[in-house]
Amino acid sequence: MPNLKGLVLAGGTGTRLRPITHTSAKQLVPLANKPILFYGLEALAAAGVKKVGMIVGETRAEVMAAVGSGSAFGLEVTYLPQEEPLGLAHCVAIARDFLGEDDFVMFLGDNLIKDGIVEFARSFSSRSSDVVAEILLAKVPDPHRFGVAALDGDGRVVRLVEKPKDPPSDLALVGVYFFDATIHRAVESIKPSGRGELEITDAIQWLIDSGYRVSSKQISGYWKDLGHPEALLEGNRLVLEDIERRIDGELDEESIVEGRVVIEAGARLVRSRVRGPAVIGLGCLLEDAFVGPFTSLGENCELRSSELENSIVLGGTSIVGVGRIEGSIVGKKAVIRKRKLLPRANRLVVGDHSIVDLA
Ligand code: TTP
Repeated sequence: MPNLKGLVLAGGTGTRLRPITHTSAKQLVPLANKPILFYGLEALAAAGVKKVGMIVGETRAEVMAAVGSGSAFGLEVTYLPQEEPLGLAHCVAIARDFLGEDDFVMFLGDNLIKDGIVEFARSFSSRSSDVVAEILLAKVPDPHRFGVAALDGDGRVVRLVEKPKDPPSDLALVGVYFFDATIHRAVESIKPSGRGELEITDAIQWLIDSGYRVSSKQISGYWKDLGHPEALLEGNRLVLEDIERRIDGELDEESIVEGRVVIEAGARLVRSRVRGPAVIGLGCLLEDAFVGPFTSLGENCELRSSELENSIVLGGTSIVGVGRIEGSIVGKKAVIRKRKLLPRANRLVVGDHSIVDLA
């Protein structure tokens, strides 16, 4: 697949994943202890992409620190600053010089395509000559929240609508698009939408209306954060379903690890049980603890005399003597502990937009 470049969108603001994104770009929120963005970069590398242009916005310092030159992924990353998130098609305009006349795949940095894009990159490279773009679609239960495609009988896209009240199908645009250089003419021809953004759906509609052919492929195993905690836990579960067992940390003789579990180096289990799928980060300490399925525990966390299941806990957090925690998301360096002093009351220091459900 010669000259297929990557355009990765890692700009925008992170406000919809509060409170976690008060400290991180949303593309860097970890699923199974790895930033969402890294799964996308791995998918691009696996599809033969070498050169990636990465759109970065106000969280650029963090994104650049995490991705660096891209060499860890076998990629050569060029950063393309965007002052304001003015739309997905605006990102294509910013990348005009970087992209030149080459074919490219645009990948939204906060979307997860479980099975990667190798097959789609291959089909785009062997497309018939009238096809100028290929989009990926997934069946969703709530199409009114997405860009939605209407297809003819051959899978050819005839119409795209952004967040329709009355969706023409249940096929949502997944955050991966293949384009040839014709898209640049489309982007130059469209105007900002009602929400003030240059919409990629409008640019693709321009291609269709100008007589070009846009093909589509359907996928499953697609996940996009929609900003609420349950969606993030679902993304975590989707990734954990595929992990392979690897124990690099230490277990004492009273500890048990069941099923597909990753225990990173430097992690220690003392009188504890971990039931997969789960990941325990570098340097964690588990003592008299239970970790149940679909849990990701970040680096250097401490879990003592407590149980944790179906949860995401970020690095440096300490959970001690609190019984059982389920379906929870805990940020970095948080402390959750049993209060010993009387009166026996809950005492909380909770960040903005947090949710605390007490049993
Ligand atoms: P979102 O803001 O989620 O774009 P969307 O159009 O999918 O969102 P909505 O649900 O409001 O329709 O951004 C998707 C990804 O693209 C995310 O990683 C941020 C990035 N992005 C940019 O880098 N620049 C931009 O101008 C926009 C709009 C998004």
